[in-house]
Amino acid sequence: MIRSRFFFWSMNKRIVIAVDGHSACGKSTVSKDVAKELSLIYIDSGSMYRAVTLFCIRNDVNIEDHQQVAEALESINIQFSKTEKGQTILLNGEDVSDKIRTKEVNALVSQVAKISEVRSKLVEIQRSFAKTESIIMDGRDIGTVVFPDADVKFFLTAKLDIRTNRRYAEMQEKGIEGSLEFVQSNLQERDYIDSNRKDSPLKQADDALLIDNSELSQEDQLEYILNIIEKQIREDA
Ligand code: DC
Repeated sequence: MIRSRFFFWSMNKRIVIAVDGHSACGKSTVSKDVAKELSLIYIDSGSMYRAVTLFCIRNDVNIEDHQQVAEALESINIQFSKTEKGQTILLNGEDVSDKIRTKEVNALVSQVAKISEVRSKLVEIQRSFAKTESIIMDGRDIGTVVFPDADVKFFLTAKLDIRTNRRYAEMQEKGIEGSLEFVQSNLQERDYIDSNRKDSPLKQADDALLIDNSELSQEDQLEYILNIIEKQIREDA
């Protein structure tokens, strides 16, 4: 569908859209859809923290020892690539898009994301993406730390039960093991760690729009978000 909102692309303006929020509230799904509708580059910043976690697991890096993790970072190269199956993430050249979604990575990723050395390296890479392209990036600190001047910011959330059911269904579809109880306690734990860490905790930016999508369909949420983006960009023009 050709949308009238494509008008602002002709203005030749590079835009940055930040999407933050709790775990498993559909940030990546809606961000991908917005990217498609508006021809933006989508960056899943969480996948970068997951890739670092996978590297640490594979290489027996002790994540309690931040110095060891900082040294490991020097051997880590993260890139995104576009393929037939969509966007993939490459860890030192290997496609790890599925391998970063396992129970083991889920269990450790919030601990790794607490480490300041990890955050500063990944934030630098994340900022570099916006130097030449219009992007939409989702994560936990995108509107607060990575792009405090983003053109439009959203903060998504949904009730815990709903997020648990969505994540559980997603895992079953992909054949990943784990009980409903496990999924729920992992989400709660990650939200707690993400919101209470010292460096760049998850919080809503003052100028972000809060959306609780517990009762919203994916289509309605997408339409709502696209309308907000269009309105904001028109106002700023
Ligand atoms: O979005 P996700 O569930 O794939 O994110 C995985 C973890 O990475 C999450 O527990 C918090 C962390 N994260 C972060 O600290 N900052 C970001 N910008 C993105 C993710």
